[in-house]
Amino acid sequence: MTGDAPTSAPTPGTLVGVGVGPGDPELVTRLAIRRLEEADRVVAPTTAPDAVGRAEAIVRQVLPRVRIDRVHFDMTADDRPGGRAARSASHAAAARSLAPWLRAGETVAFVTLGDPNIYSTFPSLAAAAAELVGGLSVQTVPGIMAFQALAACSATVLLDGTESLALVTALDGTAHVAEALGDPDRAVVVYKGGRHLPEVTSLLADHGRLDGAVFGELLGLPGERIMPVAAAGVQPATYLATVIVPPSSRAPANRQQDASAWTPSS
Ligand SMILES: C[S@@+](CC[C@H](N)C(=O)[O-])C[C@H]1O[C@@H](n2cnc3c(N)ncnc32)[C@H](O)[C@@H]1O
Repeated sequence: MTGDAPTSAPTPGTLVGVGVGPGDPELVTRLAIRRLEEADRVVAPTTAPDAVGRAEAIVRQVLPRVRIDRVHFDMTADDRPGGRAARSASHAAAARSLAPWLRAGETVAFVTLGDPNIYSTFPSLAAAAAELVGGLSVQTVPGIMAFQALAACSATVLLDGTESLALVTALDGTAHVAEALGDPDRAVVVYKGGRHLPEVTSLLADHGRLDGAVFGELLGLPGERIMPVAAAGVQPATYLATVIVPPSSRAPANRQQDASAWTPSS
């Protein structure tokens, strides 16, 4: 017996993915704000140490006094050949930078655009962090998604009755969009399709689905554009562009709530 008191390891911390909506600070939920306020540390993804990411910019508007630590991510990895490997290396490096805080028992809130469980960096970051920090608790706080904001701003009734929804991406091309458009009872949402907007527009025309299809770019952010796809789709848009297409089996009058509601959210 040495008489020394046993030193207990700190309880591993908690990593919380907090969705902060598509851009408009009024679309950040009260739960998200509370979890950000209660966290020991708020962390935001960034492409460079001196760049304010989209999610950080939203948090700054709702909680101007909260300190935000930036974690570097290779956001363009998906766009390059071998992108998946680059992306996973980038996420592993980001997880390494969070690990000391999590091992010390901190609650770390990681902010994401929209919802943290939909096409987000958060799940793979959390998986990489869990490999480094045994016993890590991972939680998420839901966020409003870009397509919901776009449906509201354009007064589009996206789903009714027994209709279904396909949420597809068009980062590498329009194959998933074409497949989803085959069912007239299905609403289609296209994410990550800005670069391929002209091809998406042609596909919608080929399937008779241009009527009621809406394009939204930089929703809730400077430079926001909301308009019919038919008017926007002649040239590529930015990465932060979303297209919503209501089912064509529903009468046009039942796809739009109030045509006068075609106003940007701001
Ligand atoms: C990596 S995903 C992130 C999705 C996000 N987690 C969500 O729940 O909406 C990025 C895609 O989401 C859509 N998106 C996110 N924010 C947007 C915004 N402010 N305006 C338009 N589209 C947006 C775009 O389709 C973009 O390519």
